[in-house]
Amino acid sequence: MKGTGTVKRRRLGTYMVAPVGLGAMRLTGPNVFGPPGDRAAAIALLRAAVDSGVDHIDTAQYYGPNIVNDLICEALHPYPPELVLVSKVGARRDSRGGILVADDPAQLRQGIEDNLRTLQVDQLAVVNLRRMRDDGPDAFFDDQLAAMISARDDGLIAAVGLSNVTLPHVLHALRFTELACVQNAFHLANRRSRSVLDECTRRNIAFVPFAPLGSGRAGAAAVLSTPEVVGIATRMRCTPAEVALAWALTFPNVLLIPGTSSMRHLRENLAASAVQLDAEALRQLARMGDASPV
Ligand SMILES: NC(=O)c1ccc[n+]([C@@H]2O[C@H](COP(=O)([O-])OP(=O)(O)OC[C@H]3O[C@@H](n4cnc5c(N)ncnc54)[C@H](OP(=O)(O)O)[C@@H]3O)[C@@H](O)[C@H]2O)c1
Repeated sequence: MKGTGTVKRRRLGTYMVAPVGLGAMRLTGPNVFGPPGDRAAAIALLRAAVDSGVDHIDTAQYYGPNIVNDLICEALHPYPPELVLVSKVGARRDSRGGILVADDPAQLRQGIEDNLRTLQVDQLAVVNLRRMRDDGPDAFFDDQLAAMISARDDGLIAAVGLSNVTLPHVLHALRFTELACVQNAFHLANRRSRSVLDECTRRNIAFVPFAPLGSGRAGAAAVLSTPEVVGIATRMRCTPAEVALAWALTFPNVLLIPGTSSMRHLRENLAASAVQLDAEALRQLARMGDASPV
């Protein structure tokens, strides 16, 4: 499998990582809930990713729940020194797969400690505060930030990240702490976080789009099956996923974490960092953005 060893690394806080990493959420059962159908295959995929140069894996204790971190640990512990594991706190799953908020300061701290225990590390490179609420930066957000900052000051995490946040959240948080990354939904058919991305670019903060391929079947239809993307892929002799990922990588501070449970897709996604979209493709994709909500 082609590795990412020769590609130019990008900044993630104080770390430098390959532009294409791995989102581990897909190493679960149907509807990203429960254990994967083939545990050995999930472990093999994690090992193949790292063997191919992936040095940035995105996870959460609530993936599974309590499954993906165990897989990562079983597959990769003791971790190669260059591997940057990023997790997130703020949510939990119930026994039927419902996604619940778990974001008060004590729950955030507990969430970080749970990640440390299951991944068997003393410190995580970055943990994202995953916002589950629609409210703006308020006193509760300040309390959440304080919990994340104390976890960093206590050495449990090396850096703080934010996820699912607005530009006001980012600007507010930066008054109190540096941010290693911001992780928001962003792809060809959803550019609503463009102002957050631009602010991160200006400040040299990594922007990590979750769902870079549109996330699952419906999103894939909105991204990978569009005439523009399919047409460019055909003309440039690459795949629609490579087009979508190569487009995201045109933003200099973007780090990708496409989610996959498939070895073939993993290879394809890693190959995207070598795809150079031509001017015509970039024009077409920019026009496609005019039609997407901002
Ligand atoms: N911060 C947050 O709130 C948040 C939310 C969602 C996700 N995330 C993180 O972001 C990562 C990415 O998000 P995501 O997994 O939801 O969405 P995604 O990366 O946009 O898409 C994943 C879906 O696309 C398929 N896929 C992957 N590679 C493909 C390829 N080359 N060609 C065609 N289909 C392909 C996968 O199926 P196969 O398994 O068949 O490849 C899966 O169904 C997650 O894994 C997770 O780590 C974070």
